[in-house]
Amino acid sequence: MSFTAIILAAGKGTRMKSEIPKPLHHVAGRPMLSWVIDAAKAAGASQILPVIGHESAQLEDWLGDIKPAYQTEQLGTGHAVLAAEHMLEKPAVPVIILFGDTPLITADTIKRTVTHIKNGADICALGFEASNPAGYGRFILDDSGRLVQIIEDSECSEAERQITFVNGGILAARAPALFSLLRSVKPANSKGEIFLTDVIAEGHAAGLNITSDKAPQTELLGVNSRAQLAELDAIAQQRLRNSAMDAGATLVAPETIFLSADTILETDVIIEPNVVIGPGVHIATGSHIKSFSHLERCYVGTCCVIGPYARLRPGTHLEDGVKIGNFVETKNARFEAGAKANHLSYIGDADVGAAANIGAGTITCNYDGFGKHKTEIGDGAFIGSNSALVAPVRIGDGAIVGAGSTITKAVDDNAIATARGRQSQITDGAKQFRAKRKKPNG
Ligand code: UD1
Ligand code: CA
Repeated sequence: MSFTAIILAAGKGTRMKSEIPKPLHHVAGRPMLSWVIDAAKAAGASQILPVIGHESAQLEDWLGDIKPAYQTEQLGTGHAVLAAEHMLEKPAVPVIILFGDTPLITADTIKRTVTHIKNGADICALGFEASNPAGYGRFILDDSGRLVQIIEDSECSEAERQITFVNGGILAARAPALFSLLRSVKPANSKGEIFLTDVIAEGHAAGLNITSDKAPQTELLGVNSRAQLAELDAIAQQRLRNSAMDAGATLVAPETIFLSADTILETDVIIEPNVVIGPGVHIATGSHIKSFSHLERCYVGTCCVIGPYARLRPGTHLEDGVKIGNFVETKNARFEAGAKANHLSYIGDADVGAAANIGAGTITCNYDGFGKHKTEIGDGAFIGSNSALVAPVRIGDGAIVGAGSTITKAVDDNAIATARGRQSQITDGAKQFRAKRKKPNG
């Protein structure tokens, strides 16, 4: 089913009090606009057409290859839709109007709304039963339950304000009908804006076939403020946790685990309470993430054990059976199968060979204040506790580094290297020291 998704994103988003355009604020680690675009694509949109403001360099950059339409002055949602008309690649296919600040709409709901048009409706508006209707346009139905008008919150009488069936903002239409109606909508309201919602009353008066549909409130909540952003994030988290569990992951105390929209958890992954998974994380089957760990942009192979209190930063790639324990931070680091760093380490810009063992307190000194350098640790190498590996440096396969070493030169395969002050001892030295310090009367 071919249709165009026009996504309105030109509003100023004043209530967010932000330098960042509202549609680029994140819900579950992904910009709101990205949620909407993905849903539209999944529903089969043949063109994604965002409408952005004139000075939205940030949005333009973010959109990359997607060509937007521009609305130079923000004169209302109807005005924004008109600004998109000349950009339609297929002017005859239905359009659906989506909002960049209503990110949780699903592909199924988009499809269902467009289907009304395929089935002969001229316009279909999508509403929901609001627990708090404030701020939303109210659906006015006739006696037979047909939608005849949408009255904006700002224009409602006291009685109309009580209506809880409200406009989600999303509307599908036969494109030529919508644009011709919009051309006759006047900014006759307290805000002086051209309201998209006025096409309902106009269309009704013109005898068009207008329908409405309902979706769950959780799909149609809009974000106008930071508090609403937090509310939507909570809903998105709930969805992500449920789908992770449906797909075969165990989440212990799921309400304390934070996922991202693109998180991939394979079957039999176990996540303990209080774990944060940022964007770009893939955890393979059977891995166990213990409490208080933080992961972003990383891959965790099968049957790894991570944490508690581990931090996997971007570019971490763990092969199967790797162990990363408490207070270990990794960044841009590849651990081959069975490698271990169990306690208190920083491993950055490093390759760690299979079954290598990194002792407590090991630090890869990867940064000299100017550039980042690489540490290579061979298969089966053993790094003694509290070692500093000053990169660039290579520790050979099967090599052993003595505890407390500061390694600045390559260590050969199977060699033992120690680089620390030699231990000396004075026989009875401690006894003599105490005798000397002892006070005469003491
Ligand atoms: C709009 C609807 C309201 C609905 C609510 C659902 C209208 C007139 N009102 O109200 O019925 O209940 O959404 O969330 O349609 N935008 C532009 N250009 C503009 C104005 C807005 O691109 O000139 C964009 C905004 O960036 C935003 C969307 O349109 O993504 C909605 O605008 P907003 O001002 O948030 O509308 P609401 O007052 O929430
Ligand atoms: Ca809004």
